[in-house]
Amino acid sequence: MSEHSNSPAQEWSAEDYARNARFVAELGEPVIDWLDAKPGERVLDVGCGDGALTASIVARGADVVGIDSSRTLIEAARARDLDARVMDVYALPFRDEFDAAFSNAALHWMRETDLALANIAKALKSGGRFVGEMGAHGNVAAITTAILAVLRAHAIDGEARWPWYFPTPVEFAERLEAHRFVVLRMALIPRPTPLPTGMRGWLDTFANPFLANVGREEREDILEEVTSLLAPSLRGRTGAWTADYVRLRFAAQLER
Ligand code: BEZ
Repeated sequence: MSEHSNSPAQEWSAEDYARNARFVAELGEPVIDWLDAKPGERVLDVGCGDGALTASIVARGADVVGIDSSRTLIEAARARDLDARVMDVYALPFRDEFDAAFSNAALHWMRETDLALANIAKALKSGGRFVGEMGAHGNVAAITTAILAVLRAHAIDGEARWPWYFPTPVEFAERLEAHRFVVLRMALIPRPTPLPTGMRGWLDTFANPFLANVGREEREDILEEVTSLLAPSLRGRTGAWTADYVRLRFAAQLER
């Protein structure tokens, strides 16, 4: 998602995703380099979304299983001829099966982080690698602050709808270690990210958890107000939008 969710309020459209968020997979290629999958290795792609990065791992000769909770996105991944399965990370059935696990832009949706990490650890062989990238502390902070402020003005409790987990490196390293991972590399990466379809495209794709059960007209008002609040800080002189992404990239290895 590759943006793949275990958030019940987030539903994905493969077409919207391809139009508004293709950059998520394109910018994930360096994580594939960190994974450094070898031919014949068995790799689990957690939150594979429409499979764009899963296909890149397959291209390196690995045998990859992609999982995602979104049926729509898994259908898009299968259309690429991938082994992609609708599966809940909180109920992963795999045991000692994979040489490596990979995840891009998905872990921040998995708010039951410890259960997700425990299940990924169980799926790995002893000494298996876990390489991934997710939103870090401070990720999309301007965008989310604007959303919360506008929702508050509409008497909606945005904090109660908050769908993500954006940890600091120290916090996430401790969580990995609690699940028997040794952290090999970790980087906090500020990554101002151009939005090809502007702030409205981003909000239409990613802000839905905040807008569940909001009527069509009020939704439109909210998104317009958020967009105009953000323009001074995130829209450049040419009118192009750039989102305030901050990534947490890591490589870890399960203890032997
Ligand atoms: C992210 O990839 O960091 C992200 C995507 C959607 C919403 C929030 C964060």
